[in-house]
Amino acid sequence: TSLKVGLIPGDGIGREVIPAAKAALLALGSDIPKPEFVDLLAGFELFTRTGTALPEETIRVLEEECDCALFGAVSSPTRRVAGYSSPIVALRKKLDLYANVRPVVSVAANPEDKPSVDLVVVRENTECLYVKQEELTIGEHGKEARAIRLITERASRRIGQMAFEIALGRPRKHLTIIHKSNVLSTTDGLFRETVRGVPSLPGVNGKYDGVEVAEQIVDSAVYRLFREPQIYDVMVAPNLYGDIISDAAAALVGSLGLVPSVNAGDKFVMGEPVHGSAPDILGQGIANPLASIRSAALMLRHLGYTKGADRIDKAVDEVIREGKVLTPDLGGKSGTKEVVDEVVKRI
Ligand code: NAI
Ligand code: MG
Repeated sequence: TSLKVGLIPGDGIGREVIPAAKAALLALGSDIPKPEFVDLLAGFELFTRTGTALPEETIRVLEEECDCALFGAVSSPTRRVAGYSSPIVALRKKLDLYANVRPVVSVAANPEDKPSVDLVVVRENTECLYVKQEELTIGEHGKEARAIRLITERASRRIGQMAFEIALGRPRKHLTIIHKSNVLSTTDGLFRETVRGVPSLPGVNGKYDGVEVAEQIVDSAVYRLFREPQIYDVMVAPNLYGDIISDAAAALVGSLGLVPSVNAGDKFVMGEPVHGSAPDILGQGIANPLASIRSAALMLRHLGYTKGADRIDKAVDEVIREGKVLTPDLGGKSGTKEVVDEVVKRI
């Protein structure tokens, strides 16, 4: 048997870091089924060339042929471009990848020490403001822009269940619900109440009794995240808050270039570094490949290939701890390729 992995490098440094994840998977040998890779197209550059950001063929191959996938990054212009919409947002919806799971972990100087930051952001991945129903009208005093923020009970329940499962599998078993229901009592209120209600759903039968549940208003959550990150274990949040919190948490561990994620549904999983296409460092050969490599490990973990995932993570931790071969975002002087070689050697 083999493990068929769809590779969607996308734009910018996505193309520089996805080969790193591929190299790490290939280095595992018999710890996982033999990986087979299929290159797939998506992104803004593709859109400017062909008028399509996410070809039907990419979705078809992912749905029909692949066991899992790795996504690099795509560029999105901050201004509206007619006909363009972000392929990653569309892919998450089409493949029903309703959770974005983002572990943020610092690497302690001594392997025996506890990391100072060790948390997982579980971000709802299909709705909130990312339904992108925006409207611009002209009112009495000029332009007026509106956006719809969709929160459903179904999506909140699914993300809540995923978050409780993840919390249950961690030593601390602590879950913080992030919301702003003091102001947005209908939307965030529904999210908060639905997640809180997960342990009493039919069929759960006390399974989550050991999980301690806390909650925090999103703005003070960011404040506390910076002052005392160790209070957090698993954080579950609606889409936009989760996006912001996970980038903020990345700053605590040194670089966005370190933080992996998976987009996960009940049937499919897609690894994806949290960072974007980083046009400011594009083409210099200095993009940090570790977030992408860790995303491959996280993808394996979700598929149940724990041994392979552990080997990749251990190699990455060693490279960071040793500190000799690192990219400039971590204060090092090495390039992407040298870091990849160092990780592969250790795997
Ligand atoms: P970004 O994440 O691309 O970059 C933010 C900063 O972090 C930059 O200074 C960049 O050089 C640095 N950085 C990011 N990844 C790095 C890595 N692997 N190694 C070293 N340094 C790294 O966010 P930005 O600049 O706001 O967005 C750039 C483009 O990426 C935009 O078009 C945006 O829409 C897109 N983007 C795409 C995402 C995705 O595909 N999921 C997520 C976030 C942004
Ligand atoms: Mg983001």
